[in-house]
Amino acid sequence: MASDSDNKEQTEQKPAAPPAEQNGQDAPVKTEGNVEKNEANNTTAAEEKKENGETSTKIEDAAAETNGTEKKDGEAVKEKEEKVEEPAKPTVRHVFLHGKHKLKIRQKEYEVTPPAKHVQVRVKVVGVNFNDLMAKCGLYKPHLKLPTPLGWEATGVIEAVGEEVDDFKVGDRVICYKEFGLWTELANVPADQCFLMPEEMSFEEGAAIPVNYITAYLMLFEFGNLRSGKSVLIHMAAGGVGIATTQLAMTVPDVTIFGTASAHKHETIKENGVTHPIDYRSKDYVEEILKESPKGVDIVLDPLSGNDSAKGFGLLKPLGKIIHYGTANAVQGEGRNLLKVAKTWWQSSSISPTHLMAQNKSVCGFHLGHLFSEKELLRETMGQLMQLFKDGKIKPKIDSVWPFEQAANAMSRMHERKNVGKVLMSPEKAADEKVEVDDTIAEEQQKQEEEKKEDKKEEKKEAEEEKKDGEEKPEEKKEEAAEGEAKEDAAEAPAAEAEKPAEEAPAATEESK
Ligand SMILES: NC(=O)c1ccc[n+]([C@@H]2O[C@H](COP(=O)([O-])OP(=O)(O)OC[C@H]3O[C@@H](n4cnc5c(N)ncnc54)[C@H](OP(=O)(O)O)[C@@H]3O)[C@@H](O)[C@H]2O)c1
Repeated sequence: MASDSDNKEQTEQKPAAPPAEQNGQDAPVKTEGNVEKNEANNTTAAEEKKENGETSTKIEDAAAETNGTEKKDGEAVKEKEEKVEEPAKPTVRHVFLHGKHKLKIRQKEYEVTPPAKHVQVRVKVVGVNFNDLMAKCGLYKPHLKLPTPLGWEATGVIEAVGEEVDDFKVGDRVICYKEFGLWTELANVPADQCFLMPEEMSFEEGAAIPVNYITAYLMLFEFGNLRSGKSVLIHMAAGGVGIATTQLAMTVPDVTIFGTASAHKHETIKENGVTHPIDYRSKDYVEEILKESPKGVDIVLDPLSGNDSAKGFGLLKPLGKIIHYGTANAVQGEGRNLLKVAKTWWQSSSISPTHLMAQNKSVCGFHLGHLFSEKELLRETMGQLMQLFKDGKIKPKIDSVWPFEQAANAMSRMHERKNVGKVLMSPEKAADEKVEVDDTIAEEQQKQEEEKKEDKKEEKKEAEEEKKDGEEKPEEKKEEAAEGEAKEDAAEAPAAEAEKPAEEAPAATEESK
């Protein structure tokens, strides 16, 4: 993570040489191509410098010209020394957000030794989050300086340990988090943002935990104070946070969970613990909830904003609370739709304290990105989550794992609302690896939805035409209708003949001959 406090901390520790990716904003040394490319990386730092015309040889040549042969001897010694002192820095692949909507894989030089209080992690798996999608659309912190590396969470193996790190050793399997910069092969991460993985946890499961489960845990148990007998509405119940929130809510006995998701995900969310799955795309979820629970719900978790915030507030029981934590409604497809952003902002309700008092309701807001300085709280929460995992109470559901080179496809899967569970990537996957995803139910349902829409359109069109005709010539129409009926009767006769049993047919054929 590149919080202000971290940067300050690192500056104090090692002001001269912060790691290249520490604040996520440093310019990379070489563009390797867009995410579809997978070129081997053999470029050394020396070659990079050469390409940029910055080789030390050139500077020394100029000095030799002015100072004669004595300098040439000195130059030889110096060159030899430099070879010993400056081992070529490795370069590693990062997935960068390069410009609005553009992802690229770039090679970046890397510090061989991690700074003090940091560990160097060979990354195995990384998580894809909605925040990465928002950043790609230009909706996450619009002042984000580009190009920037993406990625908030990763799992991997420690390859090197910086000074003043006592809790980790080389070879440890860890989960780590950071505000951007973890979609990489090798990462320097502050040691206090790393956690040992339980033996039984896979790298995939681990990479699905930090952002989704910390968010879910703090919302449900800190803000929400979820207790037995309460009810909760979870939107996007089949997504990363949705799955996590449902599992954590299930750790409290007798909790009723309403969960919204696209229809093809209902079986999964039901298995995961949702009591009442609701297809928000074809039904009014407010009506559906009130049918089951006329007084509403105790907790609404709102990742949508816009008019869903007002709906959520309206659904609260007395003493209920709504926790806002996202603005997914501002995202439409993969691009930035300013109209949609403005509409979401405009429709978001503003609530006055007197209104809150009159309604006996409470409103909270949660953003993990603004909590990273609360390291103790996050460490404690991760400790609880690791224990819940060991106890078998939580288990991340993995949707798919993509190679870095297919980052755009991984993100599209979420944009297109196809993912059921967590979308992940791995730098170890071959660039052209075919990712197995089972979309049969989704595709079948989409087809049905489209057919239904077409039918509705047809019905509407026919109704409009009938109305129009009826208004235009009522008398003529009546006659036409009568005529039409007569014709239909006449037409029905041969049809009825055709419906005769098969044995009668030859006779009719004979007659016609
Ligand atoms: N405040 C925080 O600290 C924090 C941290 C993490 C996540 N979040 C928020 O939590 C929400 C869920 O994040 P996530 O990472 O777990 O993602 P996710 O739920 O896996 O996101 C993809 C799913 O969201 C649903 N969706 C609803 N509206 C959408 C839209 N406009 N575009 C695309 N998909 C949409 C779709 O499922 P269905 O069609 O089945 O609903 C889609 O499959 C997001 O709003 C995110 O910003 C906030």
